[in-house]
Amino acid sequence: MSVVILISGRGSNMQAILEAGIPAAAVISNRADAAGLAIAAQRGVATAVVDHRRFASREAFDAALAAEIDRHAPRLVALAGFMRILSPGFVARFEGRIMNIHPSLLPQFPGLDTHARVLAAGAQRHGCTVHFVTAELDHGPIIAQASVPVLPGDTEQSLAARVLAQEHLLYPRAIRWFLDGDLVIEGGKVRVKGNHAPLVVSDRA
Ligand code: GRF
Repeated sequence: MSVVILISGRGSNMQAILEAGIPAAAVISNRADAAGLAIAAQRGVATAVVDHRRFASREAFDAALAAEIDRHAPRLVALAGFMRILSPGFVARFEGRIMNIHPSLLPQFPGLDTHARVLAAGAQRHGCTVHFVTAELDHGPIIAQASVPVLPGDTEQSLAARVLAQEHLLYPRAIRWFLDGDLVIEGGKVRVKGNHAPLVVSDRA
């Protein structure tokens, strides 16, 4: 029933997942200085570091990371601010049971610096997406999205904070759906069984 969470930094999504009572077997970081590691340890969750700089190739790092994940035999691997591109072999190994949260309304604004790019584009709405991971970065079947308004006077920071608050609600909910067996991938799209709304729209500023 458990989840392994991969982080690289702050770990606020990881914290939200733990605080929601999701059973976490371990938190693994590719960086020893990730602040989220201490938060996980304080909550009694096992932590590990697989430092990508110690490996000669992406494939070698991914093999070590996969071995560390497999020690816990998780049902789900949850990427939560994990800042490494994963090799196709790694993604295939965990196909259908690895998900990510991205700070945009995918397929708009894949990649980095989404908040600044949304402001520069003059978009009126922004948000976040939980999706299954495929070999193509920030693609893969969409599980759930939360949308927020872009407000006059927004800065990158104010917009990021508004989106992050929704991330913390959305990700634990999507993980719970998965663990409850409520997510079905059909024809490359996700169907959420039961009475769950697949799209969470927030109009609160
Ligand atoms: C979040 O905005 C997440 O959507 C993105 O990276 C950020 C991680 O933040 N993938 P945190 O480490 O969860 O606080």
